[in-house]
Amino acid sequence: MATTLSGLEDGIESTSAEVAIVDAELLLGRGEAGIIDFLTHQLGRTVAVVLLPPGLQGMQGQILELAQVREVLLKPPGVGELLKRCHDIGVSERASRSALEPRGVMQAAVPRHRAGMDGGGASVGGTNIFALMSIKGGTGKTTIACNYAYALQLAGIRTCLMGFDVPDDIGVYLGLAQAPNSSYFYQRPTRDAFAASIQEYHGLDVVLSPNDAVLAAEVAQRDPDTDEGAIGRVIDTARTHHPPYAAMVLDLPPTYSEWGLQPLTRANTVLVVATPNISDAIKLVRQLQTITERFDPRYLIPKSAIYLVLNDQRREDNMPATAIQEILADHLNGWAPPVIATIPHDTQVRPLQNRGSLPYRRLEGFTRGVNTLVDHFYGQVLGSGGAARATKRSWLPRIRIR
Ligand SMILES: Nc1ncnc2c1ncn2[C@@H]1O[C@H](COP(=O)(O)OP(=O)(O)OP(=O)(O)O)[C@@H](O)[C@H]1O
Ligand SMILES: [Mg+2]
Repeated sequence: MATTLSGLEDGIESTSAEVAIVDAELLLGRGEAGIIDFLTHQLGRTVAVVLLPPGLQGMQGQILELAQVREVLLKPPGVGELLKRCHDIGVSERASRSALEPRGVMQAAVPRHRAGMDGGGASVGGTNIFALMSIKGGTGKTTIACNYAYALQLAGIRTCLMGFDVPDDIGVYLGLAQAPNSSYFYQRPTRDAFAASIQEYHGLDVVLSPNDAVLAAEVAQRDPDTDEGAIGRVIDTARTHHPPYAAMVLDLPPTYSEWGLQPLTRANTVLVVATPNISDAIKLVRQLQTITERFDPRYLIPKSAIYLVLNDQRREDNMPATAIQEILADHLNGWAPPVIATIPHDTQVRPLQNRGSLPYRRLEGFTRGVNTLVDHFYGQVLGSGGAARATKRSWLPRIRIR
């Protein structure tokens, strides 16, 4: 945050700040075109929160559209709110810069990140796309998808939760209405229709699956390579949404149908959910063989992108993560994906979900398990205290103001 124009220019050039607070009043001498030009070409890798004097209120929409602008606030903004927004935006920027490279052949067809397309500087990384999968039903994919996505959003990482199982369970667990949902997009595949398909759950953007089996069957027939309204295109469109998502969490059906496969080709991280018992372990062997070796080459998933999450672990269980990994390694030539989180059984999960309430932050052990997942991918981004601290929104962010 600078008090003079040269201070602003020097500051952006000499620091590697994630976020700059740009007071448009400093740029008034350059006129409206000069303000747009500055925000388009002079921010380097930094993204901006723009403060507008009341006289320029009319530019708010236009400025918010710019690739590197994340928020436009009218002057004078509330200082607490401004700092909190800057902090969250900074965390999201770090999270997207830490995003893994997209995988899969289909990625070539995916529109490049908005910032790159607009030519507005080479800023911003990508979106981490997590797919929750298991070919066995009822292992807890939807439960974990909802709570993980919510935890990310609470920690300041801008996240979109998307459902691909028809009918949709996410909306049931979050207590949302059945629509809007992604049928809006599949009926008219445009960016505006995508925006209209979003529901919000306490700041988390949620796109439910179509909730319409007939439409879903028709959409599954569309050519994934050429049809703008094919299943996976909703993910491509979400990646061009603005302000951008740092993370997307995809809840998949327990099948190798198009509704399971197309989202998988977009994911850069596959979280396989299993319950710690012998029959799941054996099914897991088959599933891992299928997705790493037996799929059509364009669907094959690299082993390095696959992680295991054990769910519904009970005190009396006698199959720890190491035992499951031994079984897998025995059948998979010595390879087993890392187990990155174990989420305990809690008798209160179901009653909470029946009321449309999330177990996250209500059940201690469950919350700890989900936090392990967040910290595995974003521990460095979130800093000391990790997810446990970042999701308690009562603490004041430590922000350095230059
Ligand atoms: N850690 C847990 N403790 C207790 N109950 C759980 C836990 N995780 C999930 N459940 C319960 O297990 C059931 C199945 O969970 P969920 O719907 O998330 O599974 P799923 O894998 O998405 O199922 P499907 O394959 O049908 O999509 C739900 O009733 C949920 O409340
Ligand atoms: Mg489910």
